[in-house]
Amino acid sequence: MSLRQQLVDLYRALAARDMLIGSSGNVSVRTAFGMLITPTGCDAATLTDDQIVAMDLDGRWPGGLQPSSEWELHAAILRADPNAVWIVHTHSDHATALACLNRPLPAFHYNVAEFGGDDVRCAPYVTFGTPELAVLAARAIAGRSACLLANHGMICHAATAGAALSAAIRLEALCRQYLLALAAGRPRLLTRDEMDDAIARYGRYGQQESMT
Ligand code: 13P
Repeated sequence: MSLRQQLVDLYRALAARDMLIGSSGNVSVRTAFGMLITPTGCDAATLTDDQIVAMDLDGRWPGGLQPSSEWELHAAILRADPNAVWIVHTHSDHATALACLNRPLPAFHYNVAEFGGDDVRCAPYVTFGTPELAVLAARAIAGRSACLLANHGMICHAATAGAALSAAIRLEALCRQYLLALAAGRPRLLTRDEMDDAIARYGRYGQQESMT
């Protein structure tokens, strides 16, 4: 399947899970010349592969539909991290609620380690669609595969479209669980050693031993 169609399917899969409210949220994928990204004001119901915008990481595209207003956010992360391939930005409910507290997702659950460290940081608030947001987000996501964006939402990346969808769903679930725990009391945070053990174990997690 073409990268363009995979982007359309990824955007639709996020919408089907109520993770895109209206036209909020956008997705991109790295290419040899830069990236493919959803157009601004995207509608999951009518999005087609020919509406996907091809552009370089400096903001040049051949015309036609305008790229997402957050293209610089995507470009900054693609530029900073060679491991970033598929990028998802959403305003999903629980990630956004936590981001509106201007708080990171701390090590309240070992699954936080899936995002590359012992927290998911929250980039400070600046206006959406600005180069300043791109710089702050690239800084907050450094060494991780996700970060929150204060008073805005979240962004995450992965090596495949399926993994990027899964990462967005898992981050949203962890934010929901953290907010539930906060509402019920004061969650115990895991220690650095406990998180280091979880991170080390993730290196072997989910692999079936060879039977031969
Ligand atoms: P676009 O419609 O331009 O992609 O912007 C939506 C959004 O989420 C802004 O942060």
